[in-house]
Formats: sequence, structure tokens, C-alpha cells
Amino acid sequence: MGRSISLTELGASLPQIAPSLLACDFGHLHREIRHLEQAGAQILHLDVMDGHFVPNLSIGIPIVEAVRRATDLLLDVHLMITNPEEFVEPFRRAGADLITFHVEAAADPAALLRRIGDLGAGAGISLSPPTPVESLAPWLDACDLVLVMSVMPGFGGQSFQPGALDKLRWLRARMACGKLLSVDGGVNVETIGPCAEAGANLFVTGTALLGHEDYRARLAEFRSLVISC
Ligand code: DX5
Ligand code: ZN
Repeated sequence: MGRSISLTELGASLPQIAPSLLACDFGHLHREIRHLEQAGAQILHLDVMDGHFVPNLSIGIPIVEAVRRATDLLLDVHLMITNPEEFVEPFRRAGADLITFHVEAAADPAALLRRIGDLGAGAGISLSPPTPVESLAPWLDACDLVLVMSVMPGFGGQSFQPGALDKLRWLRARMACGKLLSVDGGVNVETIGPCAEAGANLFVTGTALLGHEDYRARLAEFRSLVISC
């Protein structure tokens, strides 16, 4: 199977929904990925947690490699780890197309964005709800993606924090059109529309999609809510 779209094509085909595999049935990972492909997903979101930056553990390099072997969809890897500098290269080798780290965790965000770009991946920067959005200002030109966390990172299934909407508006006003502005956490049929109105163009969704029995129908519903605003 050929890769559905390249990163450049993704930028031209926004808005997009990125299913978060955190909410999938890991006992049937391959089947879950196939269902998401058949439902029309173009990109998968993978949450990496280290038990330090966030109070939880999730997946690591072997699972990203396994997902890479199972699909040619774009892989959007969200690093919720304290030492992202040490891991961008192995995650790129594992098959990540986009690598996003947290501004709170990086010693030198500019250098890390450059490093990710040099590795041939899209470079993303994220911020947790308590972090002021202005802290991202120095890096908006250097990144390919900004990911606004609309819940405290670490767990799926939390309620959307509306403070993310102001951050999205602030960022949209300062980011070039083709850049990815992603929102992650509590994105569902009620919150996706307001996120789109605020300027997001990439919507990470875990439980609201994978907790639904018909992925195709739910993805279509999300798309209609995004397109209609
Ligand atoms: C949380 C993760 C999210 C999570 C979203 O730390 O970054 O990607 O999977 O899950 P929901 O959509 O359930 O909030
Ligand atoms: Zn995430």
C-alpha cells in the first residue's frame, strides 16, 4: 500500500482529523489501524508518555515501528517526555513523519526543531494548559506544527478545557496559513466546531472516535462539523 498523502499534501488537504491510537484496542492494533484506514483517516496520532513529564506510561519506539509496518498513513508522534532531544532520532527511524515535543520539556526548542527538520520529519511544538501561549512566539516561524493541549497531557478521556480556544485564536493570527495548528484533548462533536472556528486545522481525537462503533460515520460527522464552520 502506498502512503496515502505526503506531509505537503496534508498541508493542502486541511482540515484533517487525526485519530489518537491511545484510545484503541492495543490487543488488535493491526485491525484497529485497518478500520481507521477504511474509515478514511489520513494520519494517525501516537502518544508517547514517559512517567516523568506526565504521570502515565504509554507507547514507545517498538509500537511506533509496529504501526509503521502496518500502515503507510502519516504518523504524528506526540512526545510527552522530559528529554525529547535524546529520542527524536530513534522515533524518526521508527517511522514518525511528524514529531512534536513539549516546550516545557525542551532545553533548546530552536535547536530541536532544526534537528527534527534535518531528520526529514515535520517539526512540532506543543504546550500544556498552564503554559502561556506567548511562550511559543519565538518558534512559530521555525516549526511546521503547533499542538495546543486542551487537557492536561497524560490521559485520554478528559474534558475539553475551553482556555485552548483563546490559544488557538492567538496562534492562528500569527501562523502562516499552510502551517498545522492542532488541538488535542477532549475533542468531540461538541468541541470540534469551536476549535475549527478558533483556527485549528488538525483535530486529534481519541475516545470520541475510537469509543464509537462506526469509525467511518464518526469521522464523517467530525468532518461535517469542521467544514460547516
Ligand atoms: C493526552 C493525549 C491525547 C489523547 C486524547 O495526553 O495527548 O492525544 O489521546 O484523547 P481524548 O480524545 O480521549 O481526549
Ligand atoms: Zn496527543
